[in-house]
Amino acid sequence: MTAQTKLYEGKAKIIYPTDNPEILLAVFKDDATAFNAQKRGSIQNKGTVNNIISSKIFQQLEARGVKTHFIESPAPNQMRIKAVKILPLEVVVRNIAAGSLCQQTGLPLGTVLKMPLVEFYYKNDQLGDPLLTRDRILLMELATPEQVDSIIHLALQINEFLKEFFQGCGITLVDFKLEFGLDSQQQLLLADEISPDTCRLWDVSAGDDPNRRVLDKDRFRRDLGNVEDAYQEVLRRVLEAVEKG
Ligand code: C5P
Repeated sequence: MTAQTKLYEGKAKIIYPTDNPEILLAVFKDDATAFNAQKRGSIQNKGTVNNIISSKIFQQLEARGVKTHFIESPAPNQMRIKAVKILPLEVVVRNIAAGSLCQQTGLPLGTVLKMPLVEFYYKNDQLGDPLLTRDRILLMELATPEQVDSIIHLALQINEFLKEFFQGCGITLVDFKLEFGLDSQQQLLLADEISPDTCRLWDVSAGDDPNRRVLDKDRFRRDLGNVEDAYQEVLRRVLEAVEKG
């Protein structure tokens, strides 16, 4: 495997082809970016931590009937995945107000939402990943009406599992981002990753302390320090929870 053979390099992962056109290899990087890559850095061992957490979560979801791109993890920072065409949508599910929801609505940070909010953003760096409406998605033909309905259904199902799973880790799931792709049979699969890079995770034991409770990429975004420690702590608790069953 050499740099020349890579199929695609994103901000957090490099995708390599394999002998089988239906299977790809994702190598998770330690590189960290935020604010549409305006802020760049590195988080030690992030690739390994995010791959292990994502792999465990994808396996748990598969066991509950959610179809994902996960096949296996052949090395600590690598995931063998089913080849999919990624839909250019970032699907965000929110349980508690934070981040752009607070900025755009004025809702105070930490407001518990009466019901989960599912949002779509256009995966387009040049446009700054703008918020989409259902009609805009259909107008731009980014997905079919059936695909939008399935994504909302799956996103809510995944949220129910993740909320309970993280609760068992002493972690409050504030919000998270999902990506979906279509395989060669046009089947919708959960893709990308689910990790401290893509979720807001608050440590229950830190109470309301707005800085101490953060166990996710906001530590990097907001220069809160102890980024590696937070990622390791999430990994430790996830592995413990998986082991306990
Ligand atoms: O920034 P915002 O509040 O919209 O982010 C919502 C959630 O989606 C957060 O958990 C954030 O980590 C995640 N996200 C992501 N990748 C992006 C944008 C947001 O993983 N490009």
